[in-house]
Amino acid sequence: MSHDKIEVTPIAGSLGAEVRGVDLRTMDNHAWAAVHQAFLDHKVVAIRDQDLSPQDIMDVGARIGEPNHYPFVKGMDDFPFLFDVVKEPVETRNFGGGWHSDTTYMKTPPLATLLYAIETPPRGGDTLYCDMVAAYEALSPRMQEMLGTLKGINSAALKHTGGRKAHHAVIGGMKIQGTEEAESYEAVHPIVRTIAETGQKALYCSRAHTTHFEGMTEDESRPLIEWLQAHATRQEFTCRVNWKPGTITIWDNRRTMHSAINDYQGMRRHMRRLTSGPTHPV
Ligand SMILES: [Fe+2]
Repeated sequence: MSHDKIEVTPIAGSLGAEVRGVDLRTMDNHAWAAVHQAFLDHKVVAIRDQDLSPQDIMDVGARIGEPNHYPFVKGMDDFPFLFDVVKEPVETRNFGGGWHSDTTYMKTPPLATLLYAIETPPRGGDTLYCDMVAAYEALSPRMQEMLGTLKGINSAALKHTGGRKAHHAVIGGMKIQGTEEAESYEAVHPIVRTIAETGQKALYCSRAHTTHFEGMTEDESRPLIEWLQAHATRQEFTCRVNWKPGTITIWDNRRTMHSAINDYQGMRRHMRRLTSGPTHPV
């Protein structure tokens, strides 16, 4: 498919775009360059009308970088870096609810996440995204300067959202593993990170994973972490992706957070996830 038919349509004021007119299985390097440019421009790209095997998803991810390991869900038998995100009709808790960037508690968290929709509810099950560059740029110069001196301690333990074990214990449809080791996954990253390709600065902090600032107590850190979360998720910094089977969304974990909306009780949702491009935040 020629890349000159690729349509990129922004879906909100701050971030996010829909991409149509490309077949990720057969695209050439020019077509990928157009998709990648849309990714750089919009941070979140929902690419519609795809028909992707597990290997196809791996191949798209490989254009971004090496695959990342996810410690808490068992991967597919032949594709250990891919796993299914499933919510069955009888389940009430979802996976990926609450604002976060993926696996910030790893030393080299993924540059991007690829999430492919296989089965979606007729309504609901959207994903929200927020723009951590716009959030940073809206801060006062003095606040930017102060945050630029801070490092965040990021933990997988989900201390402030009920604990990893309790959080995942009620997710029945997925192959959860290793939650007892969640405390051991911890990484120190700058609160303001710089994006290599664009030079942009982005906030890199969440109430889910950032427990405190280096050199400060959790009590001292918490009010500012909570404020940064409220600030970053202001409505004007968000977009919302509505999924259809065959949609694959690629989002930039360096410059966004996301939250899966749990508003489709009694209905099934089946997605497939890959994280890609292990990167040292700087
Ligand atoms: Fe996530």
